[in-house]
Amino acid sequence: MNVGFMGMGKLGLPVALAIEKKGHKVIGYDPSPQVQETIRTKKLPYKEAQAKEWLNKSNIQHKSVQQVVEHSDIIFVPIQTPHGDKFEVQQEYLMKEKISIIVI
Ligand SMILES: NC(=O)c1ccc[n+]([C@@H]2O[C@H](COP(=O)([O-])OP(=O)(O)OC[C@H]3O[C@@H](n4cnc5c(N)ncnc54)[C@H](O)[C@@H]3O)[C@@H](O)[C@H]2O)c1
Repeated sequence: MNVGFMGMGKLGLPVALAIEKKGHKVIGYDPSPQVQETIRTKKLPYKEAQAKEWLNKSNIQHKSVQQVVEHSDIIFVPIQTPHGDKFEVQQEYLMKEKISIIVI
């Protein structure tokens, strides 16, 4: 299956790597230059069980939003969900990000 990721941060990239390890083709988009650098250099800046080893062998490529949408059978969107003082989810940010993805 062709699997897409919008957001490849501390949750998204390790999950993407685990999915790729199962034999799926994975591509993704993340606006963060640091995340793009991590994928390009294969140097993981944090600890996550097995992720470093999988990243070394990975063929995951960073693509545009349009390419991810066009070439994925399913898309995961593990982006941040900022919360308030009582850990309540701030829907405004999430909705804004989802809408921007849908519009594109
Ligand atoms: N890290 C964990 O262990 C963990 C565990 C359980 C749940 N979560 C949840 O997973 C989600 C992501 O957490 P995280 O730790 O990976 O955060 P993170 O900040 O490391 O990663 C989020 C990524 O989303 C990217 N992003 C933001 N807007 C985007 C957009 N419009 N399109 C594409 N990419 C976009 C950011 O650049 C960032 O790299 C949160 O909702 C968090 O609560 C995380």
